Amino acid sequence: MAKVLFEWDYASYPGAKAYPNLFKPIQLGNLMVPNRIKYAATEDNLNDHNGFITDADIAYMRSRAEGVVGGLCFMQGVYMDEARKGQGYVGQAACWDDKYVDGLRRIADAIHSEKAIAGFQLMDCGRVGAVEVESGHGPSTVPQRLRIFKPMFEMTNAEVKEMVRQHVDAARRGVEAGFDVMEISGIVGYLISNFLSSYTNRRTDEYGGDIRGRCQAMMEIIQGVKEVCGPDIPVGIRLCSEELLNDVRGNTPEESMETYRMAEEAGADYISCTLGWQESIYPVISRDIPQGNWLYLAKRAKEHVKIPIQMAYRLFTPDKPDKAIGDGELDFWEMCRSMIADPLMPKKVLEGREEDIRHCVACNLCLARLFRDAPMTCYINPRCAHEHDDNFTPKPVEDPKEIMIVGAGPSGMECAYVAAQRGHEVHLYDKRSEVGGTLLEASHAPYGDEELMTCVNYQKTMCEKAGVNFHLGEEVTEQLIADEMPDSVVLATGPFYPQIEGAAGRDNVVNVLDVMNGKAQVGDTVVVYGNRKPGIGVALFLAKQGKKVTLVGREKTAGFDVNPSFKWRYMIYLKQNGVMAYNDCDIEAINDGEIIVKTFDGYRFPVACDTVVVSEREANESLKKTVQSEGIELFVIGDALVPRNLSSAVHDGYRIGLRI
Ligand SMILES: Cc1cc2nc3c(=O)[nH]c(=O)nc-3n(C[C@H](O)[C@H](O)[C@H](O)COP(=O)(O)O)c2cc1C
Ligand code: SF4
Repeated sequence: MAKVLFEWDYASYPGAKAYPNLFKPIQLGNLMVPNRIKYAATEDNLNDHNGFITDADIAYMRSRAEGVVGGLCFMQGVYMDEARKGQGYVGQAACWDDKYVDGLRRIADAIHSEKAIAGFQLMDCGRVGAVEVESGHGPSTVPQRLRIFKPMFEMTNAEVKEMVRQHVDAARRGVEAGFDVMEISGIVGYLISNFLSSYTNRRTDEYGGDIRGRCQAMMEIIQGVKEVCGPDIPVGIRLCSEELLNDVRGNTPEESMETYRMAEEAGADYISCTLGWQESIYPVISRDIPQGNWLYLAKRAKEHVKIPIQMAYRLFTPDKPDKAIGDGELDFWEMCRSMIADPLMPKKVLEGREEDIRHCVACNLCLARLFRDAPMTCYINPRCAHEHDDNFTPKPVEDPKEIMIVGAGPSGMECAYVAAQRGHEVHLYDKRSEVGGTLLEASHAPYGDEELMTCVNYQKTMCEKAGVNFHLGEEVTEQLIADEMPDSVVLATGPFYPQIEGAAGRDNVVNVLDVMNGKAQVGDTVVVYGNRKPGIGVALFLAKQGKKVTLVGREKTAGFDVNPSFKWRYMIYLKQNGVMAYNDCDIEAINDGEIIVKTFDGYRFPVACDTVVVSEREANESLKKTVQSEGIELFVIGDALVPRNLSSAVHDGYRIGLRI
């Protein structure tokens, strides 16, 4: 009889009817898992810099455990060596000594308190490690491709054996701490993947050579970990199905599938299928990759091994994993970012509340933060990493106010529903008849930006459920404010687009929003003024229509407001679409058929164009004076305060919604 940890019966839930494959049990080793949901291990940099678990991490994990409704909930990968070569993140949990067990037990207990299955992960970060020390360890000394990583030195044969022992010891501690499933992270450039790969393993001893030799360390770890875990604790491993390192002689797909077979042979109870390394030059999880794009790799994995296959990677909605499981192409719906963005994501699916899900927009800010030694945050989930902080939870107000919010974009709507949930009477105005603000236009940009609308859809639902009074198609005027005399006004009016020098009287100088919504005429040769994200979005939008586009902007680099984990994608797309970018300069004059660009060191040159698209923005001062002169409490948020991005809009809205 397989071991059952908690009883779950999903029969009466609408989600179990809509997605029957997601909510049926499966056996991993000797453990019965009631559903096919897994929150994948997620580093969050929330722990103490000596590797001890913090309250912030525990609260973070507890909310994800609630979300998996009885499924697998994995804590972040732990590093296992006192020398810290395997530590990849400043706030990564450690497990190289028994002194860590008590803290780790608090995480296992928190997961169990939600009747979920607690997963432990062993993660020596190898090539991506040594974040707090000068150099790291690997199977061979192979130079780093990315500047942010430290040099790696070749481990001796004895050090490899010691590393295997560290994994086994850490697994024993994980079991002592009360975890139910053990997982080895062998992916994206971490130590096990360094041993497996022909790119980084040039050894000639028993731990190198052909693919079987390169698998030796992994096999010994799996066998040793299985031994300390005993029959009731399944042991799984995450392995690349494609390294995407062809350009540096990484493993072939056949070799990768051989690693799967060898893991199974060593006794692994499941494999989590991943792809790509931090060093590979192909994107795998950013917004430009369509959802479900990688499912064929899970299918292929299933053709090579008999043990269950789990996979995440851009599976943000339940339909695709449910179908893949039904078709026998996948066994588990893993997810990471979907549950960073909304910890209760699968729970909402089960309860038939999909409209309440705040979907990840695959911007990779969370990752960018980790690589810059900052605690994790989420672009569109202001509570993320603040689950432990009571100040971030909306609390009922003692004196409800009448609040007028001007602008139903992402900042206005976020503020509106939070304030309404707290008991205020909220009136949300927008001169347009649709909600969404400038995101309505921004979401027309290519490479996945339509997904940005998921944020607006979520906020609209939250506003409706919280009882926000919508006044759409109604422009707020001085007179309206004077008539209504609310207790507070929140200006979320979006940015102001100033006219540029020499544009007066020219009908070929148009606004970015009018271009994106098709209202403006645009010629074949275009200059886009402004090299932040709105400028990049419109430049790509127009280039896709076959127009010759030049980007001219004042920032030193194009897309300085885009997080680095996504910015590199835009740089490639600009090149691919033939968009020329002049940064660190301004438009000095607009003439017939050309503009004059002036660089900041005074150099001038013409750029031919028949249309200029203005995407530069400024703070919006309108209505501010009126509200102040009436003596009404005033808040200015989002782009109206300082033009920034969707994330700032949402976070501003949330925080003012909490405070007002
Ligand atoms: C912020 C962040 C931290 C991660 N930390 C880990 C980790 O500790 N161990 C691991 O095996 N994978 C880690 N991953 C990879 C995820 O578990 C997951 O495989 C990947 O994000 C793709 O799934 P998704 O599209 O659902 O986000 C991390 C991913 C992110 C975005
Ligand atoms: S930061 Fe971006 S990628 Fe990460 S979970 Fe949030 S929305 Fe998704």
